Amino acid sequence: MKRVLTSELHEHIDNKVLLQGWVDNRRDHGKLIFFDLRDRGGYVQTVILPNHESALETGSSLRPEWVIEVVGKVNKRPDRMINEDQPNGDLEIEAMEIKVLNQAETPPIDPTSDGYDIGEEHRLKYRYLDMRRPRLQRNLRERSKIANYIRSFLNEKDFVEVETPLLTKSTPEGARDFVVPSRQYPGDFYALPQSPQQYKQLLMAGGIERYYQFAKCLRDEDSRKDRQPEFTQLDMELSFVEREDVMALNEELLIALVTALYPNKKIKELPFPRLSYKEAMEQYGNDRPDLRANPDDPDELAFCWVIDFPFFEKTADTDDVAVDGAEWTFTHNPFSTPIPEHRESLMKNENIGDIITTQYDIVLNGYEIGGGSIRAHKPEELRKVLEIIGHNEDNIESDFGHMLSALSLGTPPHGGIAWGLDRLVSLLMNEPNIREVIAFPKTGEGRDPMMQSPAKVRSQQLDELGIKIIKTNKD
Ligand code: AMO
Repeated sequence: MKRVLTSELHEHIDNKVLLQGWVDNRRDHGKLIFFDLRDRGGYVQTVILPNHESALETGSSLRPEWVIEVVGKVNKRPDRMINEDQPNGDLEIEAMEIKVLNQAETPPIDPTSDGYDIGEEHRLKYRYLDMRRPRLQRNLRERSKIANYIRSFLNEKDFVEVETPLLTKSTPEGARDFVVPSRQYPGDFYALPQSPQQYKQLLMAGGIERYYQFAKCLRDEDSRKDRQPEFTQLDMELSFVEREDVMALNEELLIALVTALYPNKKIKELPFPRLSYKEAMEQYGNDRPDLRANPDDPDELAFCWVIDFPFFEKTADTDDVAVDGAEWTFTHNPFSTPIPEHRESLMKNENIGDIITTQYDIVLNGYEIGGGSIRAHKPEELRKVLEIIGHNEDNIESDFGHMLSALSLGTPPHGGIAWGLDRLVSLLMNEPNIREVIAFPKTGEGRDPMMQSPAKVRSQQLDELGIKIIKTNKD
């Protein structure tokens, strides 16, 4: 017999079917045993009647989260037993045979509730159990649908999906790097990418013209509800474009995505309103304003663009990583170009604090869900930015020589954007925290309680890497 999913039962009323899944819960009513059987399609109430003896015998031993196979008949429930709130509330499986495929010990956390009240440490330690709850099942499925929608939209527009390396070199994005020691070059380190920023620009130098990727980004920063040390960007870059082109394409994609997948949601204002950084700060006191009319309405989506950010800020005014001893640092992205009217100021090193960058941030319901810019595509311009943010001649060559070289070998004008995919999905799912839409996230303290990472490595591994651990008072 071919397996049928609980979501397909309405096509099989009065027929015998084979179901496979988990025991969601069991209720004994005298001689009758009831349990819900759960699979990836949902769940269905199953009843074992006293006349199905072998089913009754196996059924009486069933415990929550056991994995079973049921052969049974799909019956319509009598009218008074119908539960309108459940997709299978009008059906019931009359079990004839039950086979146990695997037993389960008593689950340490309850995977049948919504899970919000279970401690994070426990949920993440048993994430595979946690993930069985319908809410997480839905979130991961919807995330996959969203990614697929984006893929086909961009493929249709002649974008190429390209993977870029994880073992790379430090790239300045304002956060700390995670570093990976090299065995072949003891004392040298790779850095994990904070974003594929440099690679995507090098793809433009390479003539790819339209690139995207669902990119893992790694930043050694403290977790928050909208921040993880490891997260996913929808990253894209386009050649021969100006700011308006990138913004228009992304606005089109966001509208198409919401309309196709979440028709119940209402976008507050179209086209997306635009605010300058100055207006946002003056009117809302921050650069990611929440423009919803009613923040309690789960179906309201208030998108807006924030543009015209200052390119540079004083290092004294920021906690971001800056070059040692530098007076200025970049606010968003050192590879950006200023708005056309301000390019001359940059090249002349005039009025640094007043230079406006081409940066555009996309904001949804008070969260920054993406940001990007048009880039410097001339080597002298990038060099100027690097000088302003305090790099000397030597480290410009050693750290950015490849970028300057690419820009001097026929790189087209280009620009792009990256969305925080986890943030977008969590907002569309009305989740309060991006951990709810990531299969295996880290805790607020940056640990994975299931794998127990970070963890010590064997002393032999350290020897091979030429690394010695120095004990500090903290240990
Ligand atoms: P940026 O650093 O602004 O830009 O990142 C783009 C988007 O990624 C999301 N984001 C995060 N999400 C979860 N956890 C984090 N720790 C985290 N950090 C950022 C945000 C943010 O808007 N290379 C540039 C993009 C470009 O210029 O094209 C970049 O990485 O939603």
